[in-house]
Amino acid sequence: MSERAIGGRTLIPVEVKAGEELLWCACGMSSSQPFCDGSHEDTEFSPMEYVAPETRRVFFCTCKRSKNAPLCDGSHKELPV
Ligand code: FES
Repeated sequence: MSERAIGGRTLIPVEVKAGEELLWCACGMSSSQPFCDGSHEDTEFSPMEYVAPETRRVFFCTCKRSKNAPLCDGSHKELPV
């Protein structure tokens, strides 16, 4: 299994609405981080669906190393320089 690309080095805050369906980029190659733009097409990765449980601000992972994907767990702080 190949390693995911690093889509970014910090989280991205997004205002979501309850019930909103979003496709989070899991491969790290999207240029529309944190969301999928179809760039995963020739990879083994697929986007992850996120359905907002409530209307609020959430913090999406862009480094693709979060153990709480698609949300940030601070793993970007451990990325190699
Ligand atoms: Fe990364 Fe679709 S572009 S999962």
